[in-house]
Amino acid sequence: MSEDNKKIPAWKADFPIKKREAAYVSRKEFIKLITFFSGTLALANVAIPAFNFFKEEKEIGQYFVGLTTDLNVGGMRTFYINEDHRTPYMLIRLAEDKWKVFEQKCTHLSCSVLYNHNEKVIECPCHHGFFNPEDGSVIQGPPPRPLPQLTVVIKEDKIFVTDFVKVTEESHG
Ligand code: FES
Repeated sequence: MSEDNKKIPAWKADFPIKKREAAYVSRKEFIKLITFFSGTLALANVAIPAFNFFKEEKEIGQYFVGLTTDLNVGGMRTFYINEDHRTPYMLIRLAEDKWKVFEQKCTHLSCSVLYNHNEKVIECPCHHGFFNPEDGSVIQGPPPRPLPQLTVVIKEDKIFVTDFVKVTEESHG
């Protein structure tokens, strides 16, 4: 036995693995890997919008929000509907007899928006997005879509919200 073989442990002599060769990735393997990741990304790009398109809009029914005496003109309060604590909504009293309800999540990156009665805008503090409190449309900034709006129904002194207002419909006061 040579001097070199004496230094190498028996298990290493039996399974001689060279680190450089073990870490080597052939061009074919690399292309397979890239193709797999690209394919997965391409599939996600199609699947996610398709999922959102076919996702059913939740039925809200008629949900009691509060009393008209709870809020002064220019006031705002947030609430959740039923057990869904993922989507906050904001009730705004624009005038004595004008109420609006919008989702409180900015359509840009979901920051919480707030109503500014002095400026008569709904503003997003994250990237200075501004929405129109009349219909939720984007006035300025990066938000790509209007704030989803719910229909407000006042019965005597009780405030209820019902379904989402379609973007093309007139705003409900
Ligand atoms: S998250 Fe609202 S403007 Fe960016």
